[in-house]
Amino acid sequence: MKMKAVICTKYGSPDVLELIELEKPVPKDNEILIRIFATTVTTGDVRVRSFDVPALMWIPARLMLGIKRPKNQILGNDLAGEIEAVGKNVTKFKVGDQVFGELPAMTSGTHAEYISLQESAMLVIKPSKMTYTEVASIPFMGLSALLFLRDRAKIKSGQKVLIYGASGAVGTFAVQLAKYFETDVTGACSTTNLELVKSLGADKVIDYTQEQINKGTVKYDVIFDAVGKISKSSCKNILSGNGKFVTVNTLIAVKPKIEDLQFLKKLLETKKIRAVIDKTYSLDQIIEAHKYVETGRKKGNVTVTV
Ligand SMILES: NC(=O)c1ccc[n+]([C@@H]2O[C@H](COP(=O)([O-])OP(=O)(O)OC[C@H]3O[C@@H](n4cnc5c(N)ncnc54)[C@H](OP(=O)(O)O)[C@@H]3O)[C@@H](O)[C@H]2O)c1
Repeated sequence: MKMKAVICTKYGSPDVLELIELEKPVPKDNEILIRIFATTVTTGDVRVRSFDVPALMWIPARLMLGIKRPKNQILGNDLAGEIEAVGKNVTKFKVGDQVFGELPAMTSGTHAEYISLQESAMLVIKPSKMTYTEVASIPFMGLSALLFLRDRAKIKSGQKVLIYGASGAVGTFAVQLAKYFETDVTGACSTTNLELVKSLGADKVIDYTQEQINKGTVKYDVIFDAVGKISKSSCKNILSGNGKFVTVNTLIAVKPKIEDLQFLKKLLETKKIRAVIDKTYSLDQIIEAHKYVETGRKKGNVTVTV
């Protein structure tokens, strides 16, 4: 049996991507076969495909991602879909379960109709009232925002928090999570995204095209650069004495746990967070999706229906 998948056989522009037919995977005894209905194209996918890494990281990144070409030829990290078959030792899931989740860091493979994963993978049952597209964008970027704020910045109720790059994928989750953690949230973005960031619950917004964030008088307990465009030194005069500066330009180091995805699922179900979806493409429009994500101007997430 065959399935459709998008493969990336060399580093380069979005045109290197090809929609082809591959053998449909067969689940091993401890695996589940998922029919993927929705996935995302993230900045991570674009980074791997284009090999957009800082010069200092060139050698380690090639060793990790593949020397001449991506080791994992099918990109994509997020997925939402239905379990079509289970191996004989699987106890956690059954055929027909609707799930969503993500693949481990440095692996990929969700830009395809099917994937076979161990039952211990980062997967949870999809909230029944939500669409596959809505939940597909939660895992990778939602978990990243959670780990940066909760585990790196140790965010606490009552703090003043600045989210820089508040309108991107990480940023839109970070604003909502910082509100959930009962902090006073300021979101910085460009003029066109001010309303979006306010609608996510930000107490204040700064239009960084009109106002330099480091010229303000407010001191923040946490500054989270969710887009990787500012430095700690440029913000030192707006960081409180014990304030923490965290940026997506560093590795998180902690790994997300299944409980973290369950936590985000609960926040979704109780409407404490929502996915901001800018555009949705079909699998055969994946080149367009990559071109759009590569602009660096998407609002929230870009999803793909499979
Ligand atoms: N370290 C990790 O583990 C980790 C995990 C996840 C993501 N990341 C990285 O995090 C970064 C952000 O990812 P993402 O997917 O959230 O990005 P994204 O969605 O592509 O971010 C797009 C947003 O960034 C804003 N933006 C663009 N240039 C800006 C600038 N100069 N200053 C302020 N805002 C700017 C734009 O909004 P405006 O037009 O409103 O400015 C746009 O809405 C990527 O580099 C990604 O690789 C790292």
